[in-house]
Amino acid sequence: MIQFEHRPGILDLGWGHPRPGLLPVQEWAAAGAVAAREFGWRQLTYGSAAGPAPLVEWLSARLRTAAGRTFVTGGASHGLALVASLLAGRDDVILVDSPTYHLAFRILADTGARLMRAPADAAGADPDALTRMLATLRAEGRRVPLLYLVPTFANPTGRSLPLDRRRALVALAQRSGLTLLEDDTYRELGYDGPAPPSLWDLAGGDGVVRLGTFAKTVAPGLRLGWVNAAPPLIARLTALGYVDSGGGVNHAVATTMSCFVASGAYDRHVAVIRAEYRAQRDALVAALRPHLPVTAPGGGWFLWVALPPGLAATRLLARAERRGTSFVPGSRFYVDGAGGADRIRLSFSHLAPADLTEAAARLGAALADSR
Ligand SMILES: Cc1ncc(COP(=O)(O)O)c(C=O)c1O
Repeated sequence: MIQFEHRPGILDLGWGHPRPGLLPVQEWAAAGAVAAREFGWRQLTYGSAAGPAPLVEWLSARLRTAAGRTFVTGGASHGLALVASLLAGRDDVILVDSPTYHLAFRILADTGARLMRAPADAAGADPDALTRMLATLRAEGRRVPLLYLVPTFANPTGRSLPLDRRRALVALAQRSGLTLLEDDTYRELGYDGPAPPSLWDLAGGDGVVRLGTFAKTVAPGLRLGWVNAAPPLIARLTALGYVDSGGGVNHAVATTMSCFVASGAYDRHVAVIRAEYRAQRDALVAALRPHLPVTAPGGGWFLWVALPPGLAATRLLARAERRGTSFVPGSRFYVDGAGGADRIRLSFSHLAPADLTEAAARLGAALADSR
């Protein structure tokens, strides 16, 4: 029925899923009733190619994006697959940040392109080293159309790329023709202040494609997101054969979302979950501090934690599971697997504060077993 598998006895910090009790079941049902009344049969027929106007207009206003630059998708993963399939192909090189969202690797690899790790340091993608790498690859005759990154409240690190690097990456993209594929999934989930400006905003839409989603702010089961791109790419998306045949992606859900946002339910819900996820972050950070050096991320769903010297994440994982908790080992987030052996990703999104505190105690016990 659902993707999450509960393993009895395990308080799992591995899943980047919402806390079930925070999903807006009643509010969504209410929006569904309003949408049925408001749109009638128009909600149940084929939708317009780029998405229903009420939702596209709300997105454009909210994200301060000009008309003609939004295409509604079935989530960020879908947007990623569509954009990558249009911009990259066999024998191309797609650069990916390191570490970065591991499930993007398979989506990007489906294009047939070769994935390579983009240079990065503790602050994130390194524009100078990237400039050199790009020149070398192109001198070898490789086509390098894309760099994929999650610059804001990232998965897995929780960190945000500094402003000077954002500007330098945008300048590199605009002079080199490399497209920055900005996965902006966590933008709305800032806990200590607003998110930094997106690459998309800094670039004025030139050289950047942005992926957005309602998966983290409303619900992943809706399968609803969007792509922001320059009009020629939006035109290619709307002209795709399956859009021509099937109409706008996920039309009924997109129209319901237009009612959800128009009623104020979206803003109310995001305010609630921001407070809840902030409390979950704080609970996990506080409970881990006696055991591990943790820094609270400014947003998103994840802690990226360095293990004591000499302790490999995979060795700790086996011990953690014996103690009744789990996590994702850091190496999964490096496309070449070379890195992150001494890091772990802990998600604070899925469990309530009391369970997070207990999971941290179990992890502490597993660390003590490892000493
Ligand atoms: C960075 C990032 N991008 C995309 C996704 C998936 O988004 P969607 O459910 O909208 O496909 C996730 C979910 O974990 C994510 O962390």
